[in-house]
Amino acid sequence: ETYRDQYRPQIHFSPAAHWINDPNGMVYFNHTYHLFFQYYPDATVWGPMHWGHATSTDLVHWKELPIALYPDSLGYIFSGSAVVDSNNTSGLGKKGKIPLVAIFTHHNPNGEKAGTNNYQNQSLAYSLDNGITWTKYAGNPVLNNPGIKDFRDPKVMWYARQKKWIMTLATKDRITFYSSPNLKKWKKESEFGATIGAHGGVWECPDLFPLKLNGKTHWVLIVNINPGGPNGGSATQYFTGDFNGSKFTPRDTKTRWLDYGPDEYAGITWGNTGSRKIFLGWMSNWEYANQVPTEKWRNAMTIPRELSLKAVNNEVLLASAPAKELNALTAKTLVLKPTVKAGQDILANLNKQYKQYRFDAKLRNKPGFRIKLSNDEGETMVIGYDNKTGNYYIDRSASGKTDFNPNFAKTAYAPRLAFPKTSDIHLIIDASSIEFFADGGLTTMTAVCFPHKPYTHLYIEILKVSDIVQPSVSGLVSIHGN
Ligand code: FRU
Repeated sequence: ETYRDQYRPQIHFSPAAHWINDPNGMVYFNHTYHLFFQYYPDATVWGPMHWGHATSTDLVHWKELPIALYPDSLGYIFSGSAVVDSNNTSGLGKKGKIPLVAIFTHHNPNGEKAGTNNYQNQSLAYSLDNGITWTKYAGNPVLNNPGIKDFRDPKVMWYARQKKWIMTLATKDRITFYSSPNLKKWKKESEFGATIGAHGGVWECPDLFPLKLNGKTHWVLIVNINPGGPNGGSATQYFTGDFNGSKFTPRDTKTRWLDYGPDEYAGITWGNTGSRKIFLGWMSNWEYANQVPTEKWRNAMTIPRELSLKAVNNEVLLASAPAKELNALTAKTLVLKPTVKAGQDILANLNKQYKQYRFDAKLRNKPGFRIKLSNDEGETMVIGYDNKTGNYYIDRSASGKTDFNPNFAKTAYAPRLAFPKTSDIHLIIDASSIEFFADGGLTTMTAVCFPHKPYTHLYIEILKVSDIVQPSVSGLVSIHGN
């Protein structure tokens, strides 16, 4: 019932009811993945922000828990992160219990209304019971606003080499890095980005972490931006480079996007997952997030994605792949042999009980293609590659309900970044979304859609069918058990 309404994601996290935006406080602790999120428990539109909470032991099945953080006299609870303070540097641990510490933005609506410019400040809360209940730190805020209106979304990590915490903070049109020995006192280290990257909107929700490529450590800086995304509205850009505990130095000054689709935003990674880096974003866009046609709840998260680095020409690029944990949902795989014929409905033989599924294939000779999802009402969602322009695209102009916002029906484009001899594509299709990964995940696109009936047909249009190798389609089991 709760999870059976039309458009309800069956393999993604969505709230039982009401509004969500950004993922917050993502941290792995005691065999549990925590997912907090911007939450308004009184309506299906944005409002005074709380931190909702869900946990998972496998990254795919989520259990929604009571609200973790409520607004207070210092303001709404905006986005932020959580860390495991194993050494109790904060002193917030009691009786040998390791504290989970949340670092978030207090957004004071009164200060905003009064026209001041210091109404966003960073604060702490801690939990001694595995993140279930939280106590706000009595000395909040711990980082005061120096007079920058947009001063928010702290992402904190332990920088082991210098035994200090690093806070990556979005400060209007740039990132400011701070450091702290104890999460309570913060010192400004440096700024990055005022003249680099995309600047069509304000910088929000950053993340900083190391990743290895052929044994060498590189640093990745994620910076969400709204508006100013490659297809309009909100999107996630990234930089690769070096971080020395004080300063981030990019390898080059190119603007790159982690996801080129219209509907991945505020994405960041889980903390405390060792050398793995698992990313998750909000599956929406501020252009129409408050208007999408769902009734009891609004907006969902992407699937968890594993990030890796790839060397392409002389560049170090970030690639995304569906986290391997998702394989646990694979119910039935049909390998389509020997090749797909034009006009063949690839879903025809897949047990119709699977309304959510994935399509995987390898392609030779860099062919242009169109993958058309359709339903019995003739509505279509088209994912393609135009080999003349070198662009991937998603055309949702005839995908179902589109008229709730004039920008929604626009086709989204993404550049192809690598041209291996054989490339791979992956599509993950849920009740109201598709996620597309191409060329080892160097190009990724996420788009939501609202068909009147599920897309139960899938056709591939390609010039030479022999260019497709091992296409397969797999039914996925609903995480809600239907
Ligand atoms: C990003 C964002 C954050 C802010 C939060 C408020 O989507 O605007 O910058 O903390 O949402 O809900």
